Amino acid sequence: MSVAGTHLGSGKVRELFGLDDDTIALVASDRISTFDVVLPTEIPDKGRVLTALSAFWFALTDEIVPNHLLKVEDDGRTMVCRRLEMLPIECVVRGYLAGSGWKDYVATGAISGHALPPSLLESSRLPEPIFTPATKAATGHDENIDEENAAARCGDARYAAAREAALALYRFGAAHAEERGIILADTKFEFGVDRQGTLVLGDEAMTPDSSRFWPAADYEPGRGQPSFDKQFVRDWCERSGWNKEAPGPELPRDVVVGTRARYVEAFERLTGIAFADYVERPEVVL
Ligand SMILES: Nc1ncnc2c1ncn2[C@@H]1O[C@H](COP(=O)(O)OP(=O)(O)OP(=O)(O)O)[C@@H](O)[C@H]1O
Ligand SMILES: [Mg+2]
Repeated sequence: MSVAGTHLGSGKVRELFGLDDDTIALVASDRISTFDVVLPTEIPDKGRVLTALSAFWFALTDEIVPNHLLKVEDDGRTMVCRRLEMLPIECVVRGYLAGSGWKDYVATGAISGHALPPSLLESSRLPEPIFTPATKAATGHDENIDEENAAARCGDARYAAAREAALALYRFGAAHAEERGIILADTKFEFGVDRQGTLVLGDEAMTPDSSRFWPAADYEPGRGQPSFDKQFVRDWCERSGWNKEAPGPELPRDVVVGTRARYVEAFERLTGIAFADYVERPEVVL
């Protein structure tokens, strides 16, 4: 990786570089985190898949909400982006009951203050997609918060704009994915504000890292769903007996190969573009 610029920080997956006052480079590594712990084993090409899918969605959705993407570099993993002041919340949209949403529903009958119909099953489709903001925890696990709390963190008008944009993006992405046999069960967006004060979609968008993608053909409520994405490696981690605290376990070769294949397949099914073509010429997704 060689990016000119100031290293601003490392996320669990991305390296962030400042290029000038208005632009940054976001470089997606092949690191993988499960249960918020970065594992010692990398998944080859994962960073390129994340960048490729994000860029694909950014190009398709810029009329719904403007986004930060300026350019994808030839390495396929670096995005040059407008620098934003990020909102202090994660904008999660759920169309189905899974993960922490399912846990909250079982415990309280609600998620982030949205009362839901009784007797929904694990993985049930919700009557309407719901917006369930979470804190952006610097360390540890993000926590679901109610709308009032989220609005207090962002300001009411900003919060309402982010919620509407996130719901519109989810509806668009879920409909697109459904036509390709993939259920977008839930996804997380991060928004920021540019110099002009405009709300802009930042970070990554509707990738296997920020979303749950389920194969529609195998969908059946009442249980967890097999999936294209990280669930494969999450399931292996669950079975391995690891206590989910750092350091995480080394992944066996078949889990690495299987996880890489799932990331690539998610990209190819969602975009209709061969991953090899993207590697050759990243502009194909734009
Ligand atoms: N346009 C942008 N301007 C400024 N910061 C951005 C922009 N887009 C994304 N970011 C930030 O860059 C970081 C991306 O790194 P990464 O996705 O690896 O982090 P993470 O592991 O999800 O979370 P954390 O940063 O808390 O470790 C996030 O903190 C995100 O908020
Ligand atoms: Mg992130």
